[in-house]
Amino acid sequence: MHFYSSSRQAAPYLPRHKMGAKAHVNHPMSTRRRNQYIKWGVIAALLIFLFFNWRSTADEIQAISPYTISITEKGKSPAAAKDGAESADVATDGAANAEPKKEEEKHDNQMKIAIVTFTTSEKSYTYMSLKNKHAYARRHNYTLLIDYDAPESHDVGIMWHKFKMMEDLVHAGTHDWIWWIDFDTLITNLNIKLDDIIKESLYNVSSVFPAAKNPDFKTQFNSAEADGVDPSNIDFLLTADCFPLNAGSMLVRGRLPPSRQTPLTTVDFLDRVRKYHAANASYENQLSEQDCMRDMLFDMDPGYTEKHVRMIPQWKTNAFPEEIKCWDKDDRGWEKGTFAIHFAGAWAHLKDDDPTGVLMRKYEPEIVD
Ligand SMILES: *[C@@H]1O[C@H](CO)[C@@H](O)[C@H](O)[C@H]1NC(C)=O
Ligand SMILES: *[C@@H]1O[C@H](CO)[C@@H](O)[C@H](O)[C@H]1NC(C)=O
Ligand SMILES: *[C@@H]1O[C@H](CO)[C@@H](O)[C@H](O)[C@H]1NC(C)=O
Repeated sequence: MHFYSSSRQAAPYLPRHKMGAKAHVNHPMSTRRRNQYIKWGVIAALLIFLFFNWRSTADEIQAISPYTISITEKGKSPAAAKDGAESADVATDGAANAEPKKEEEKHDNQMKIAIVTFTTSEKSYTYMSLKNKHAYARRHNYTLLIDYDAPESHDVGIMWHKFKMMEDLVHAGTHDWIWWIDFDTLITNLNIKLDDIIKESLYNVSSVFPAAKNPDFKTQFNSAEADGVDPSNIDFLLTADCFPLNAGSMLVRGRLPPSRQTPLTTVDFLDRVRKYHAANASYENQLSEQDCMRDMLFDMDPGYTEKHVRMIPQWKTNAFPEEIKCWDKDDRGWEKGTFAIHFAGAWAHLKDDDPTGVLMRKYEPEIVD
């Protein structure tokens, strides 16, 4: 082993240079020629050895080489190859113990992400909110989709239009993930990538799959089964606030990852939420889209939630400021450098004609660019 591995590296340079110099003093021609024979003999032996062994050693190489994809995925369809990459994405970020080969695969596979929101009237912070979202989307090549009216939502309430926007995008199948955000938000750290938040969240699922390790998920869904979820089956990454769900910032899977065995569930789920509303909302029993989603997730359809939904820390994607202390169990509000801020229900917390505008203007100078 030692013999051929060192000659392999040294062959082009070392023998000629070093031995040649020495040989010149003693026996110029014969020694040099013998060294040449030895060198080429070694190279030939090495090539023969490699030729007969490369297949059997491929598995070992796979464990260490960043170039394994081209070897091991050769026979597979592009979809299957991408499949491996997706699970690698999942396993990499935030994982100190992730395998190095998975780290390598990540870079070629940027997720396609759409940021989706709507606003249907002029507000004091319209320009601020638009400018901020455009700057962020442009920075990371994300798609930004904004609707300026919601004609078909009159009967049910305007916020239901967010379902329509998300469904249209899922049907289009153009994006891996969709980030729905309410318009009364600012991205306060333009350097934080949604890709990384998604990968970290899915890694947290994969790190408990299949072994039951994460006590959080167990208590949250009160079920051992939650630990057996394959991250590629997760379709919603949601946050709570001081209530079980805040629907003002939601990460929703936009198309089927290749590794996935079961169909995408996002549109079906939104559909069930809509039906629940149609059947159960009334003048006396007003239900927002957020209420209905909450009921479906935590009361009506917990089995679905275990398989396809994860709650992530509120401060990761949906931080509320100190003025709005409606925080999830982490009890962590917005701080400088936090990814995004949401002025949810500002009217309930601030005595002002324009509570959201006041807060938008207060926090805009704090954006980390
Ligand atoms: C965005 O896309 C452009 C070309 O489409 C590319 O040159 C640039 O590197 C991309 N930026 C990022 C952050 O991926
Ligand atoms: C992932 O898990 C780690 C460790 O429990 C936690 O600190 C982090 O906030 C989690 N991230 C997400 C996005 O859930
Ligand atoms: C309406 O709510 C009840 C319970 O609150 C539930 O059993 C029923 O399935 C709901 N209807 C729909 C269509 O979801």
